[in-house]
Amino acid sequence: MEQMDTIKSAALAAIEAAADQETLAAIRTQYLGRKGSIPDLMKQLRTIPPEQKRAFGQQVNELKDAVEAAWTARAEALEAARDGATAAAFDVTLPGEWRGGGSLHPITQLTDRAVEIFQTLGFTVADGPDIETVFNNFDALNHPPGHPARDVKDTFYLDDPNLLLRTHTSPVQVRYMLSHPPPIRIIAPGRCYRRDTPDATHSANFHQIEGLYVGRNVSMADLKGDLSHFAREAMGPDTRVRFRPHFFPFTEPSVEVDFSCHVCGGKGCRVCKQSGWIEIAGAGMVDPNVFTAVGYDPDEVTGYAFGMGIERIAMILFGISDIRHLYENDVRYLAQF
Ligand code: DAH
Repeated sequence: MEQMDTIKSAALAAIEAAADQETLAAIRTQYLGRKGSIPDLMKQLRTIPPEQKRAFGQQVNELKDAVEAAWTARAEALEAARDGATAAAFDVTLPGEWRGGGSLHPITQLTDRAVEIFQTLGFTVADGPDIETVFNNFDALNHPPGHPARDVKDTFYLDDPNLLLRTHTSPVQVRYMLSHPPPIRIIAPGRCYRRDTPDATHSANFHQIEGLYVGRNVSMADLKGDLSHFAREAMGPDTRVRFRPHFFPFTEPSVEVDFSCHVCGGKGCRVCKQSGWIEIAGAGMVDPNVFTAVGYDPDEVTGYAFGMGIERIAMILFGISDIRHLYENDVRYLAQF
Protein backbone atom coordinates (compact mmCIF):
# COMPACT_ATOMS: atom_id res chain seq x y z
CA MET A 1 0.00 0.00 0.00
CA GLU A 2 2.81 2.31 0.86
CA GLN A 3 4.51 1.52 -2.43
CA MET A 4 1.27 2.40 -4.20
CA ASP A 5 1.09 5.77 -2.50
CA THR A 6 4.71 6.54 -3.43
CA ILE A 7 4.11 5.59 -7.05
CA LYS A 8 0.91 7.61 -7.16
CA SER A 9 2.38 10.84 -5.82
CA ALA A 10 5.53 10.50 -7.91
CA ALA A 11 3.51 9.85 -11.10
CA LEU A 12 1.07 12.69 -10.50
CA ALA A 13 3.89 15.12 -9.69
CA ALA A 14 5.79 14.12 -12.82
CA ILE A 15 2.68 14.49 -14.99
CA GLU A 16 1.93 17.88 -13.53
CA ALA A 17 5.50 19.04 -14.18
CA ALA A 18 5.70 17.69 -17.76
CA ALA A 19 6.17 20.65 -20.10
CA ASP A 20 5.92 18.85 -23.43
CA GLN A 21 4.49 15.79 -25.15
CA GLU A 22 7.83 13.93 -25.24
CA THR A 23 8.26 14.12 -21.49
CA LEU A 24 4.67 13.04 -21.12
CA ALA A 25 5.22 10.04 -23.40
CA ALA A 26 8.25 8.99 -21.33
CA ILE A 27 6.17 9.21 -18.14
CA ARG A 28 3.55 6.98 -19.71
CA THR A 29 6.15 4.35 -20.51
CA GLN A 30 7.59 4.62 -17.04
CA TYR A 31 4.31 4.15 -15.14
CA LEU A 32 1.73 2.67 -17.47
CA GLY A 33 3.85 0.89 -20.13
CA ARG A 34 4.05 -2.90 -20.37
CA LYS A 35 7.12 -2.92 -18.10
CA GLY A 36 6.03 0.19 -16.16
CA SER A 37 5.67 0.35 -12.37
CA ILE A 38 1.88 0.02 -12.24
CA PRO A 39 1.66 -3.19 -14.33
CA ASP A 40 4.59 -4.35 -12.15
CA LEU A 41 2.36 -4.01 -9.09
CA MET A 42 -0.25 -6.20 -10.79
CA LYS A 43 2.38 -8.91 -11.16
CA GLN A 44 2.76 -8.92 -7.36
CA LEU A 45 -0.84 -10.15 -7.11
CA ARG A 46 0.51 -13.73 -7.13
CA THR A 47 2.36 -13.09 -3.84
CA ILE A 48 -0.66 -11.57 -2.05
CA PRO A 49 -2.62 -13.79 0.37
CA PRO A 50 -5.93 -14.88 -1.22
CA GLU A 51 -8.16 -12.94 1.20
CA GLN A 52 -6.40 -9.65 0.29
CA LYS A 53 -6.18 -10.23 -3.46
CA ARG A 54 -9.47 -8.55 -4.24
CA ALA A 55 -8.73 -5.38 -2.27
CA PHE A 56 -5.22 -5.19 -3.71
CA GLY A 57 -6.44 -5.59 -7.27
CA GLN A 58 -9.00 -2.87 -6.73
CA GLN A 59 -6.38 -0.51 -5.34
CA VAL A 60 -4.02 -1.05 -8.25
CA ASN A 61 -6.86 -0.44 -10.69
CA GLU A 62 -7.81 2.77 -8.92
CA LEU A 63 -4.19 3.87 -9.03
CA LYS A 64 -4.01 3.06 -12.72
CA ASP A 65 -7.23 4.98 -13.46
CA ALA A 66 -6.05 8.01 -11.48
CA VAL A 67 -2.69 8.16 -13.25
CA GLU A 68 -4.35 7.54 -16.61
CA ALA A 69 -6.84 10.37 -16.05
CA ALA A 70 -4.16 12.83 -14.90
CA TRP A 71 -2.03 11.89 -17.90
CA THR A 72 -4.85 12.44 -20.42
CA ALA A 73 -5.80 15.76 -18.85
CA ARG A 74 -2.19 16.96 -19.02
CA ALA A 75 -1.81 15.79 -22.62
CA GLU A 76 -4.92 17.71 -23.63
CA ALA A 77 -3.79 20.81 -21.77
CA LEU A 78 -0.40 20.74 -23.50
CA GLU A 79 -2.09 20.29 -26.88
CA ALA A 80 -4.41 23.24 -26.29
CA ALA A 81 -1.49 25.42 -25.17
CA ARG A 82 0.43 24.58 -28.34
CA ASP A 83 -2.54 25.46 -30.58
CA GLY A 84 -2.98 28.71 -28.69
CA ALA A 85 0.68 29.62 -29.17
CA THR A 86 0.48 28.89 -32.91
CA ALA A 87 -2.64 31.01 -33.25
CA ALA A 88 -0.99 33.89 -31.40
CA ALA A 89 2.14 33.73 -33.60
CA PHE A 90 0.07 33.76 -36.80
CA ASP A 91 -1.67 37.09 -37.25
CA VAL A 92 -4.40 36.49 -39.80
CA THR A 93 -5.07 40.24 -40.04
CA LEU A 94 -1.58 41.01 -41.43
CA PRO A 95 -1.74 42.11 -45.09
CA GLY A 96 -0.24 39.60 -47.57
CA GLU A 97 2.91 40.23 -49.55
CA TRP A 98 1.87 41.62 -52.98
CA ARG A 99 3.89 39.95 -55.74
CA GLY A 100 2.41 41.98 -58.57
CA GLY A 101 0.27 40.76 -61.43
CA GLY A 102 1.59 40.32 -64.96
CA SER A 103 0.67 42.74 -67.71
CA LEU A 104 0.58 42.45 -71.48
CA HIS A 105 3.51 43.96 -73.38
CA PRO A 106 2.54 47.26 -75.09
CA ILE A 107 3.23 45.67 -78.50
CA THR A 108 0.85 42.83 -77.66
CA GLN A 109 -1.79 45.22 -76.31
CA LEU A 110 -1.72 47.30 -79.45
CA THR A 111 -1.70 44.31 -81.80
CA ASP A 112 -4.65 42.72 -79.99
CA ARG A 113 -6.60 45.97 -80.13
CA ALA A 114 -5.93 46.54 -83.85
CA VAL A 115 -6.88 42.96 -84.71
CA GLU A 116 -10.06 43.29 -82.66
CA ILE A 117 -11.10 46.46 -84.49
CA PHE A 118 -10.52 44.98 -87.95
CA GLN A 119 -12.28 41.76 -86.96
CA THR A 120 -15.45 43.81 -86.39
CA LEU A 121 -15.09 44.92 -90.05
CA GLY A 122 -15.04 41.28 -91.21
CA PHE A 123 -11.26 40.78 -91.43
CA THR A 124 -9.73 37.46 -90.39
CA VAL A 125 -6.21 36.97 -89.07
CA ALA A 126 -3.62 35.51 -91.47
CA ASP A 127 -0.13 34.40 -90.59
CA GLY A 128 3.18 33.84 -92.34
CA PRO A 129 6.68 32.68 -91.36
CA ASP A 130 9.54 34.99 -90.36
CA ILE A 131 11.77 33.21 -92.90
CA GLU A 132 10.43 34.07 -96.34
CA THR A 133 11.31 33.47 -99.96
CA VAL A 134 12.72 36.27 -102.05
CA PHE A 135 9.73 35.70 -104.32
CA ASN A 136 7.13 36.37 -101.60
CA ASN A 137 9.01 39.22 -99.98
CA PHE A 138 10.11 41.09 -103.14
CA ASP A 139 9.41 39.55 -106.59
CA ALA A 140 5.68 39.02 -106.24
CA LEU A 141 5.39 42.43 -104.57
CA ASN A 142 6.64 44.08 -107.75
CA HIS A 143 10.11 45.05 -106.56
CA PRO A 144 12.21 45.26 -109.73
CA PRO A 145 15.66 43.60 -109.77
CA GLY A 146 18.15 45.96 -108.15
CA HIS A 147 15.53 47.66 -105.97
CA PRO A 148 17.44 49.14 -103.01
CA ALA A 149 15.37 47.25 -100.41
CA ARG A 150 16.80 43.99 -101.81
CA ASP A 151 20.37 45.04 -100.97
CA VAL A 152 22.29 42.87 -98.48
CA LYS A 153 23.00 46.09 -96.62
CA ASP A 154 19.28 46.34 -95.78
CA THR A 155 18.05 42.75 -95.73
CA PHE A 156 19.13 39.65 -93.80
CA TYR A 157 19.62 36.81 -96.29
CA LEU A 158 20.08 33.21 -95.20
CA ASP A 159 22.76 30.83 -96.56
CA ASP A 160 20.25 29.82 -99.20
CA PRO A 161 20.13 33.06 -101.28
CA ASN A 162 16.43 32.47 -102.04
CA LEU A 163 15.58 32.83 -98.35
CA LEU A 164 15.58 35.91 -96.12
CA LEU A 165 14.13 37.23 -92.86
CA ARG A 166 11.04 39.06 -94.06
CA THR A 167 11.53 42.82 -94.18
CA HIS A 168 7.80 43.54 -93.86
CA THR A 169 4.50 41.68 -93.34
CA SER A 170 3.48 42.29 -96.98
CA PRO A 171 4.57 38.76 -98.10
CA VAL A 172 1.61 37.43 -96.10
CA GLN A 173 -0.56 39.11 -98.77
CA VAL A 174 1.20 37.01 -101.41
CA ARG A 175 0.91 33.76 -99.44
CA TYR A 176 -2.74 34.31 -98.74
CA MET A 177 -3.69 35.21 -102.31
CA LEU A 178 -1.71 32.23 -103.65
CA SER A 179 -3.74 29.89 -101.44
CA HIS A 180 -7.20 31.54 -101.41
CA PRO A 181 -9.45 32.76 -104.22
CA PRO A 182 -10.94 36.27 -103.93
CA PRO A 183 -12.75 37.88 -102.22
CA ILE A 184 -10.48 38.14 -99.17
CA ARG A 185 -10.18 40.39 -96.19
CA ILE A 186 -7.18 39.70 -93.92
CA ILE A 187 -5.18 41.33 -91.18
CA ALA A 188 -1.67 39.96 -90.56
CA PRO A 189 0.34 41.05 -87.54
CA GLY A 190 3.93 39.85 -87.24
CA ARG A 191 7.63 40.33 -86.70
CA CYS A 192 9.90 41.87 -89.34
CA TYR A 193 13.66 42.23 -89.75
CA ARG A 194 15.91 44.82 -91.31
CA ARG A 195 19.62 45.47 -91.16
CA ASP A 196 19.23 48.70 -89.21
CA THR A 197 21.73 49.98 -86.68
CA PRO A 198 19.78 50.16 -83.41
CA ASP A 199 19.13 53.64 -82.06
CA ALA A 200 16.25 55.43 -80.32
CA THR A 201 13.89 54.90 -83.27
CA HIS A 202 15.39 51.90 -85.11
CA SER A 203 15.59 48.24 -84.26
CA ALA A 204 16.76 45.32 -86.39
CA ASN A 205 13.52 43.57 -85.60
CA PHE A 206 10.15 45.17 -85.14
CA HIS A 207 6.46 44.50 -85.75
CA GLN A 208 3.96 45.42 -88.42
CA ILE A 209 0.29 44.86 -89.09
CA GLU A 210 -0.64 44.21 -92.68
CA GLY A 211 -4.14 44.61 -94.06
CA LEU A 212 -5.50 43.41 -97.40
CA TYR A 213 -9.00 43.63 -98.86
CA VAL A 214 -9.59 42.24 -102.34
CA GLY A 215 -12.90 41.90 -104.14
CA ARG A 216 -15.03 43.46 -106.85
CA ASN A 217 -15.04 47.26 -106.88
CA VAL A 218 -12.91 47.73 -103.77
CA SER A 219 -11.84 51.36 -103.95
CA MET A 220 -9.72 54.02 -102.30
CA ALA A 221 -12.94 55.16 -100.61
CA ASP A 222 -13.13 51.79 -98.82
CA LEU A 223 -9.53 52.23 -97.70
CA LYS A 224 -10.21 55.69 -96.36
CA GLY A 225 -13.47 54.66 -94.69
CA ASP A 226 -11.99 51.58 -93.00
CA LEU A 227 -8.85 53.35 -91.80
CA SER A 228 -10.96 56.25 -90.51
CA HIS A 229 -13.07 53.80 -88.55
CA PHE A 230 -9.88 52.21 -87.20
CA ALA A 231 -8.50 55.65 -86.27
CA ARG A 232 -11.62 56.60 -84.31
CA GLU A 233 -11.78 53.25 -82.52
CA ALA A 234 -8.08 53.13 -81.68
CA MET A 235 -7.30 56.81 -80.98
CA GLY A 236 -10.64 58.39 -80.06
CA PRO A 237 -13.89 59.49 -81.77
CA ASP A 238 -12.56 62.86 -82.97
CA THR A 239 -9.55 61.45 -84.82
CA ARG A 240 -9.28 62.51 -88.48
CA VAL A 241 -7.36 60.79 -91.28
CA ARG A 242 -5.46 62.24 -94.22
CA PHE A 243 -3.77 60.63 -97.21
CA ARG A 244 -0.54 61.96 -98.72
CA PRO A 245 0.62 60.70 -102.14
CA HIS A 246 3.57 58.34 -101.87
CA PHE A 247 5.21 55.44 -103.69
CA PHE A 248 5.31 51.72 -102.89
CA PRO A 249 6.20 49.11 -105.54
CA PHE A 250 3.18 46.93 -104.71
CA THR A 251 0.43 49.59 -104.68
CA GLU A 252 -0.74 52.09 -107.28
CA PRO A 253 -1.72 54.70 -106.34
CA SER A 254 0.13 54.67 -103.00
CA VAL A 255 -0.38 56.88 -99.98
CA GLU A 256 1.01 57.56 -96.58
CA VAL A 257 -1.71 57.72 -93.95
CA ASP A 258 -1.69 60.26 -91.14
CA PHE A 259 -4.01 60.41 -88.11
CA SER A 260 -4.71 63.75 -86.40
CA CYS A 261 -2.60 64.02 -83.24
CA HIS A 262 -4.34 62.38 -80.28
CA VAL A 263 -2.55 64.69 -77.84
CA CYS A 264 -3.31 68.16 -79.25
CA GLY A 265 -6.21 67.22 -81.52
CA GLY A 266 -4.40 68.75 -84.51
CA LYS A 267 -3.33 72.12 -83.10
CA GLY A 268 0.34 71.14 -82.98
CA CYS A 269 2.40 69.93 -80.03
CA ARG A 270 5.64 68.20 -79.09
CA VAL A 271 4.30 64.70 -79.87
CA CYS A 272 3.31 65.57 -83.48
CA LYS A 273 6.30 67.91 -83.89
CA GLN A 274 3.90 70.87 -84.27
CA SER A 275 2.36 69.43 -87.45
CA GLY A 276 -0.94 68.29 -85.93
CA TRP A 277 -0.59 64.92 -87.74
CA ILE A 278 1.01 61.58 -86.95
CA GLU A 279 2.23 59.23 -89.66
CA ILE A 280 0.64 55.83 -89.09
CA ALA A 281 0.71 53.62 -92.19
CA GLY A 282 1.67 53.03 -95.77
CA ALA A 283 -1.20 52.02 -98.02
CA GLY A 284 -2.64 52.01 -101.50
CA MET A 285 -4.53 50.11 -104.20
CA VAL A 286 -2.97 46.72 -104.94
CA ASP A 287 -0.82 47.00 -108.09
CA PRO A 288 -2.13 44.87 -111.01
CA ASN A 289 1.34 43.27 -111.27
CA VAL A 290 0.84 41.81 -107.77
CA PHE A 291 -2.49 40.28 -108.80
CA THR A 292 -0.84 38.77 -111.87
CA ALA A 293 2.01 37.32 -109.76
CA VAL A 294 -0.47 35.47 -107.50
CA GLY A 295 -2.77 34.35 -110.32
CA TYR A 296 -5.64 36.82 -109.73
CA ASP A 297 -7.19 38.55 -112.76
CA PRO A 298 -6.55 42.31 -112.41
CA ASP A 299 -9.53 42.97 -114.71
CA GLU A 300 -11.83 41.12 -112.32
CA VAL A 301 -10.71 42.30 -108.88
CA THR A 302 -9.34 45.36 -107.15
CA GLY A 303 -8.04 45.69 -103.64
CA TYR A 304 -6.51 47.91 -101.06
CA ALA A 305 -3.57 47.13 -98.77
CA PHE A 306 -1.94 48.84 -95.84
CA GLY A 307 0.92 48.24 -93.45
CA MET A 308 1.67 49.93 -90.16
CA GLY A 309 4.59 49.80 -87.79
CA ILE A 310 3.42 48.79 -84.34
CA GLU A 311 6.42 50.10 -82.40
CA ARG A 312 5.98 53.56 -83.91
CA ILE A 313 2.34 53.70 -82.87
CA ALA A 314 3.12 52.28 -79.41
CA MET A 315 5.81 54.89 -78.88
CA ILE A 316 3.47 57.73 -79.86
CA LEU A 317 0.47 56.41 -77.92
CA PHE A 318 2.33 55.51 -74.73
CA GLY A 319 4.93 58.30 -74.92
CA ILE A 320 7.89 55.91 -75.14
CA SER A 321 11.03 57.85 -75.99
CA ASP A 322 13.36 55.02 -77.03
CA ILE A 323 12.33 51.92 -79.02
CA ARG A 324 14.90 49.86 -77.09
CA HIS A 325 12.76 50.17 -73.94
CA LEU A 326 10.33 47.85 -75.69
CA TYR A 327 12.89 45.03 -75.92
CA GLU A 328 14.86 45.29 -72.70
CA ASN A 329 11.97 43.58 -70.90
CA ASP A 330 12.49 45.45 -67.66
CA VAL A 331 9.17 44.62 -66.02
CA ARG A 332 9.33 47.82 -63.95
CA TYR A 333 9.22 49.76 -67.20
CA LEU A 334 6.71 47.59 -69.06
CA ALA A 335 4.30 47.37 -66.12
CA GLN A 336 3.53 51.07 -66.58
CA PHE A 337 1.50 50.43 -69.70
N1 DAH B 1 5.45 47.09 -96.50
C1 DAH B 1 5.58 48.53 -96.34
C2 DAH B 1 6.79 48.85 -95.46
O1 DAH B 1 7.25 47.99 -94.77
C3 DAH B 1 4.34 49.10 -95.70
C4 DAH B 1 3.19 49.05 -96.62
C5 DAH B 1 2.93 50.08 -97.47
C6 DAH B 1 2.33 47.94 -96.66
C7 DAH B 1 1.87 50.07 -98.36
C8 DAH B 1 1.26 47.90 -97.52
C9 DAH B 1 1.04 48.99 -98.37
O2 DAH B 1 0.45 46.88 -97.57
O3 DAH B 1 -0.01 48.94 -99.23
O4 DAH B 1 7.23 49.95 -95.46
